[in-house]
Amino acid sequence: VRSELTDAFGRTARDLRVSLTDRCNLRCSYCMPPEGLPWLPTEEVLTDAEVGQVLRVAVEMLGVRRIRFTGGEPLLRPGLVGIVAHAATLRGEAGRPELALTTNGLGLDKKIGALADAGLDRLNVSLDSLDAGRYAQLTLRDRLPDVLTGLAAVDRRGIGPVKINAVIRRGVNEEDIVPLAEFCLARGYQLRFIEQMPLGPAHEWARSAMVTADEILGALQQRFTLSAAEEPRGAAPAQLWRVEPEGSIPGGVVGVIASVTRPFCGDCDRTRITADGQVRSCLFSRRETDLRAVLRGGGSDDDLAEAWVGAHRVKPRAHGIDEDGFLPPIRTMSAIGG
Ligand code: GTP
Ligand code: 5AD
Ligand code: SF4
Repeated sequence: VRSELTDAFGRTARDLRVSLTDRCNLRCSYCMPPEGLPWLPTEEVLTDAEVGQVLRVAVEMLGVRRIRFTGGEPLLRPGLVGIVAHAATLRGEAGRPELALTTNGLGLDKKIGALADAGLDRLNVSLDSLDAGRYAQLTLRDRLPDVLTGLAAVDRRGIGPVKINAVIRRGVNEEDIVPLAEFCLARGYQLRFIEQMPLGPAHEWARSAMVTADEILGALQQRFTLSAAEEPRGAAPAQLWRVEPEGSIPGGVVGVIASVTRPFCGDCDRTRITADGQVRSCLFSRRETDLRAVLRGGGSDDDLAEAWVGAHRVKPRAHGIDEDGFLPPIRTMSAIGG
């Protein structure tokens, strides 16, 4: 390790989120407008080799220990399996990086075998409803069966742990809270309910309309007995709750990611790179640092590392969603990388 990614508030990034494409085959309203977005032209997206170089620098020179592949929808990236296989060959100070994927699950049944063989350690699947009609309303695509097929394939392969992400929207899928919990407890998935953040189309978020973590916990407590899971949480975004077994439903753990009402920025250990090679020190950064220009300008590994260290030093203290003067990022979640 040549240098670490530290910022002015004493945080060190060890967790890299890599967006592999800005495209997606769903249209979740909190993330993207129905018509989609002007996609990045292929030549602006980092090539597989460029992604490989970025990952190598992150792990070997900058102390990154965990890599999460995101998008858009990362399964749409043709080179995904090869990128994962390359990442699995990297060795940093702490050994091989942990490799995770955040996906909407469409087409996962066809790819999970190759991904696991390539070295993927675990995956998080987005699933906001178990009702086909509401799923279609939320995503604008009638694809719930595909997600369930994907999850079944993951179970057969035995890769894990599997986490399920559910964003809850008022008047849309609040009634899915308990069924999602029952579904995940029965299958041994760790379900995390997510407070919606102002990262999608501007009119899709209102602080007053957001379903809060406390409301979600209240709904769960009407059905289950919960107790705070006391393991130290570190930089993990989810607060975990232990669930007592209830009738035919086994016990387990559910989480809430209360990014808005209980921000975890003080413990943040993330750095990110967009599909077009821009470093973002924070999901909510209003500035980006162009690593692609360094790569394509013939920069060395040292040049890349130096640009990244500089980008990360100015990581904002916090997103400030609930503070005066908050400004959302210029790009939406799908373009930044979830
Ligand atoms: P693990 O807990 O390691 O499995 O990963 P994760 O939960 O960070 O990853 P995932 O991609 O599943 O993200 C789940 C949710 O966490 C997202 O929907 C966001 O709501 C939230 N999240 C992810 N990254 C950030 C971040 O950098 N800042 C904030 N505030 N929230 C984030
Ligand atoms: N707020 C919170 N979570 C979001 N996601 C997408 N957009 C938002 C938002 N505006 C979630 C997806 C996925 C994860 C990577 O990010 O549901 O699970
Ligand atoms: Fe970290 Fe920024 Fe996310 Fe806060 S909003 S947790 S500082 S990346």
